Amino acid sequence: MDHFLYRGGILCAEDVSIPEIAETVGTPFYVYSCATLTRHYQLFKEALEGIDNLVCFAMKANSNQAVIAHLANLGAGMDVVSGGEYLRAKAAGVPGERIVFSGVGKTREEMRTALTGGIRQFNVESEPEMVALSEVATSLGLTAPITIRVNPDVDAKTHEKIATGKSENKFGIPIAKAPAVYAMAASLPGIEVVGIDVHIGSQLTELEPFRLAYEKVKELTLQLRAEGHDIRRLDLGGGLGIPYERSNTAPPLPTEYGALIKEVVGDLGVEVEIEPGRLIAGNAGILVSSVVYVKEGEGRDFLILDAAMNDLVRPAMYGAWHDIVPVVEPAPGVEQRPYDIVGPVCESGDTFAKQRQMPPLSEGDLVAFRSAGAYGAVMSSEYNTRPLIPEVLVKDDHVAVIRARPSFDEIINRDTVPEWV
Ligand code: LLP
Repeated sequence: MDHFLYRGGILCAEDVSIPEIAETVGTPFYVYSCATLTRHYQLFKEALEGIDNLVCFAMKANSNQAVIAHLANLGAGMDVVSGGEYLRAKAAGVPGERIVFSGVGKTREEMRTALTGGIRQFNVESEPEMVALSEVATSLGLTAPITIRVNPDVDAKTHEKIATGKSENKFGIPIAKAPAVYAMAASLPGIEVVGIDVHIGSQLTELEPFRLAYEKVKELTLQLRAEGHDIRRLDLGGGLGIPYERSNTAPPLPTEYGALIKEVVGDLGVEVEIEPGRLIAGNAGILVSSVVYVKEGEGRDFLILDAAMNDLVRPAMYGAWHDIVPVVEPAPGVEQRPYDIVGPVCESGDTFAKQRQMPPLSEGDLVAFRSAGAYGAVMSSEYNTRPLIPEVLVKDDHVAVIRARPSFDEIINRDTVPEWV
């Protein structure tokens, strides 16, 4: 459920009409709903009620500081994967003790940033990373709390580019090697083992892969405890999928996911962390765009929008589906026709949808891409010197631009031409 509904035939974000926002900020733009962010965060909190838990929002899904601050005010922690995300979380007011640091390639510089600024834990992904962290922590006279990310060799049954839990993926250490790596961790100065971490992939639409992975983590917890390690925290990652295509069966709900977690690890007496990104932010955002031209091609018509692959890369990158709806609700029973919906970028890959059934649309009409709040704005670029598009946040009838569109001067002046050119 989200808070982008038609009211009197006009698509609204909570109590604000989309055409009104378009009028002020111009298209294309992203708009997020606080009520939807809150609801999705609360769903996880309710699902985990009864066990000690921290829901850490995976900031890679949406790192706008207003979004982070909103979630942090509700009590959320953050999962960061770079020094930049760490600093953004801090700038948005998230305390260090609620930030976990994931990622396969943390640099020493990033470790220093997080150690000195305060951190809940590092999720360590390799032996060399652990050695580096030990060196950095001791040089600062500090101790780094860590989990080790294990790779359980489980098929997440998702798109190959976002599956992370198979042995051929670069993530984590093979679970069979875990006891040896934990022993190594225990012997290193400046390192304090606090738990185990696992994350098997993103946009999972079944619970079974989670069950397989979490059962392996449970077994490992018991083994490591028997070997003397104080495993008191389990970071179970993110990955629960969302319904991108409303006509399809929906993925499992957070309640079912929470029930599974409680069933598998509920009796271990651990604190559970989860790192959802997409499920919290995905349906809390839409991308609004205008039709520039309707072009009649050979045997097909193209709807050419002012948004492009640089603004929302998911269709081009993963062949991803986003529902695309007209902002003015079509009259019931209006005849739909197929369009190829494309952007203006000079690549055939700049195609959002092929032969998508839409009501008749014409120049200047507004359309909205649903489920664009996660991995939308954060993955955008200025390809073709198209400025990053604005982000807008709505709460009831409040509206704010939370990232403004840069001017062409700002973009152009970022380059420097050396005098010897
Ligand atoms: N934790 C870790 C360690 C991760 O690598 C990820 C996502 C998450 C949590 C959050 O997963 P989520 O709950 O959002 O599924 N750009 C792709 C998705 C990449 C996901 C990468 N890792 C897309 O647009 O589909």
